[in-house]
Amino acid sequence: MFDGIASDYDQMNRVMTMGQDQKWRRFVVGKAGDPGSGLVLDLATGTGDIASLTNTSHPAAHVVGADFSFNMLREAGKRFAQQPISWQSCDANHLPYKEKSFESVTFGYLLRNVDDSLTVLREVRRVLKPGGRVVCLDTTPPQKNMLYPFIRAYFRFGIPLLGRMIASDESAYAYLTGSTMEFHTADELAAIFKEAGFVDVGYQKFMMGTIAVHWGQSPKGV
Ligand SMILES: C[S@@+](CC[C@H](N)C(=O)[O-])C[C@H]1O[C@@H](n2cnc3c(N)ncnc32)[C@H](O)[C@@H]1O
Repeated sequence: MFDGIASDYDQMNRVMTMGQDQKWRRFVVGKAGDPGSGLVLDLATGTGDIASLTNTSHPAAHVVGADFSFNMLREAGKRFAQQPISWQSCDANHLPYKEKSFESVTFGYLLRNVDDSLTVLREVRRVLKPGGRVVCLDTTPPQKNMLYPFIRAYFRFGIPLLGRMIASDESAYAYLTGSTMEFHTADELAAIFKEAGFVDVGYQKFMMGTIAVHWGQSPKGV
């Protein structure tokens, strides 16, 4: 599915989020802290926006952008050919990196797509250095308040329609809606971060409570 939407992915993102998506990615990079000249990983990098912003903010760091979709990685490489980012193929369930390799690990819109968030978060913790930070951006099920019917209608009808018009792929974007509504609530996801062993876990919501950025830290000295 991700291979199929790679070429229209960026345009679709900008339209669907009304131009807000880069702001959230910048927030992610800020929350990941300053890695100095160390190694950082942007997992599920897709077309590479978070990896690129990390390189721009921290030019001394060594940035790895990793994903299991070949077409996504190819788009990332084309878009950011001028930046010294290492694009690598990998599955988030079995990271091909040694323990305690990275100063920080970021990922945008990954966990909603995996079978078991806890397995991936444990892998992330394994490859993070003690004190290293993890930051996760994803959609989150909207809470049932006054805005809920409108938000639900946008997810149910608006997003698949945009998917058909812009990406010629209604089903991929209907999947986004389904996987968002069925995903962990922000509180549940924060609890899974803690279960994976992270400390100082927190989150902030954006876009009328439909986007959440979660963060945590690998315990120091472990
Ligand atoms: C919605 S895109 C997000 C791309 C990018 N992070 C962003 O901010 O726009 C989700 C990405 O996760 C990748 N992905 C999903 N499951 C994965 C896994 N198990 N291992 C590695 N990448 C995965 C997909 O290939 C896709 O590129």
